[in-house]
Amino acid sequence: MTGKDPDEDAIRLAGESLASGDPVGWFERLYAESATGDAIVPWDSRSPHFLLTEWGVPGTGRALVVGAGLGDDAEYVAELGHETVAFDVSETAVRLAKERFPDSAVRYEAADLLNPPAEWRQAFDLVVEIMTVQALPEELHAPAIARIAEFVRPGGTLLVIASGRDEGGPVFAPPWPLTPSEIAAFATDGLKTGTIEDLRDGERHRWRATFHRPA
Ligand SMILES: C[S@@+](CC[C@H](N)C(=O)[O-])C[C@H]1O[C@@H](n2cnc3c(N)ncnc32)[C@H](O)[C@@H]1O
Repeated sequence: MTGKDPDEDAIRLAGESLASGDPVGWFERLYAESATGDAIVPWDSRSPHFLLTEWGVPGTGRALVVGAGLGDDAEYVAELGHETVAFDVSETAVRLAKERFPDSAVRYEAADLLNPPAEWRQAFDLVVEIMTVQALPEELHAPAIARIAEFVRPGGTLLVIASGRDEGGPVFAPPWPLTPSEIAAFATDGLKTGTIEDLRDGERHRWRATFHRPA
């Protein structure tokens, strides 16, 4: 597949999925096609996100990695000593993550962020969200953000890493980068804003933000 645009398969499958009114079905199709070598997963960097490793993950305890994809961020968090659960809506992503890390201490699960297991509510000391909300159409951002905030237990921390855009800025979806008001909206359900870093590097605009639930 030399010379192929790494975004090509995701754009094709997302387009088909969204046209049929299914905003998340394309993730399973993309991971399944990647497993047979027929598609590229454009976000598969085979390493934890640099904004996660640079951040300095706090403490130990129970961690939840949202939309964990192929597991590199979850493995990093677990290696630091957290008892880690990682979930993705794609069952194939979960299978591929387990195959990539056969000796993993991470518990990989298939679950839908928009309808998560009830027992995850306020159950985690650290919640890591990297580029999942932005992978959903804009109208799903608010419910997805609300579910993520609910995972944080009293005394716990939420880390959000996402692509950014200015309020009302253009979108060439997918993804749907988060606006300043969407990043601020993670401070819901009792969460307090820690830091919001507005990181700009040429054309690239990213957020790294933390939120805390008071003990
Ligand atoms: C852009 S990828 C980012 C993957 C990973 N977090 C990373 O940074 O490499 C978005 C991920 O979110 C997952 N995802 C999308 N919608 C989801 C949902 N409703 N529930 C759980 N996972 C979802 C996708 O399957 C995909 O693995």
